[in-house]
Amino acid sequence: MHRVCSHSKHMTPGAITYRNPNSGATTVAGEPTGLGEIAGACGFDPGKPNPARIYDYLLGGKDHFAADRRAAQRLVSALPDAARAARANRVFLTAAVRYVARRGISQYVDIGAGLPTSPNVHESARSVVPAARVAYVDNDPVVVTHARALLATDDFVIVVKGDTREYEAILAGPELNALIDLSEPVCVLFVSMLHFLTADEADAVVAAFRERMAPGSYLVISAGHDKNQQVREQVQTAYGDAAVLTGRPAAEIAAYFDGFDLVPPGLVPVTEWPLEEPDVGPRPRIWPGSPAPMAASMLAGIGRKRG
Ligand SMILES: C[S@@+](CC[C@H](N)C(=O)[O-])C[C@H]1O[C@@H](n2cnc3c(N)ncnc32)[C@H](O)[C@@H]1O
Repeated sequence: MHRVCSHSKHMTPGAITYRNPNSGATTVAGEPTGLGEIAGACGFDPGKPNPARIYDYLLGGKDHFAADRRAAQRLVSALPDAARAARANRVFLTAAVRYVARRGISQYVDIGAGLPTSPNVHESARSVVPAARVAYVDNDPVVVTHARALLATDDFVIVVKGDTREYEAILAGPELNALIDLSEPVCVLFVSMLHFLTADEADAVVAAFRERMAPGSYLVISAGHDKNQQVREQVQTAYGDAAVLTGRPAAEIAAYFDGFDLVPPGLVPVTEWPLEEPDVGPRPRIWPGSPAPMAASMLAGIGRKRG
């Protein structure tokens, strides 16, 4: 049985239509009711939590199901700063892209792009470099459907469906290569996604991109750092079998930047990243009433390739 999952630019943001071409039935999901129909149409199980939708819930978005909300609440029980870290992560991502764009970089590859959250990478980059080209990559079919509708608004923003673990296919793919020229400086982002891979997988994918990036390119990374055994188990339980969660020591996260110079302030808790220029301080509070610095579950850094 062949079914499609589509999204209209003219609908309320966040709403998706799910059409079953056999029955002709259409379901509109912003706050979905026909979960069985949606699951069948898009090939996912809304009863299972999903990393992109859990993150969307933590950010205050509206593209999530009850299972995602329950998982997010379990995550917050294990990591009380999870929601604040998610928001700080978006601040870091935006600041990093603008920082890199101010250094003249006009092409971006955002790996594990997530559900569209404004300002997105192309909006941040184009606020500085209007002709910036952006390739978003994600393996989640719902993310890809949303992103193609909301982000790929011109020929210079594309959304590639790909699993990072199959990095050779992504790197060799015609879609990426039609837009991104890796022989020229590029910015590659792995923001809040490497902890969804095993350590070996994460090392391999980052190394593959790192080796192909031209001198003067930028690598932007935020990634979960290791916790005690009990917290680790609680976090993994929150996600269930939807994802592997890998926290890593700071030295292993720093090793992602092998051959790159870290820009100030270096590899720091994501909640401590300066809002704009890293060398301009003091750092304002990200949101009212929150003590800073706080215990952060992710470390963040920007590196520039030597040579
Ligand atoms: C927490 S979200 C991060 C979104 C965005 N990068 C940000 O920081 O705001 C993680 C994203 O990584 C994606 N992801 C997880 N594993 C992946 C894989 N193996 N290949 C591609 N994308 C993956 C998920 O689908 C999800 O959209």
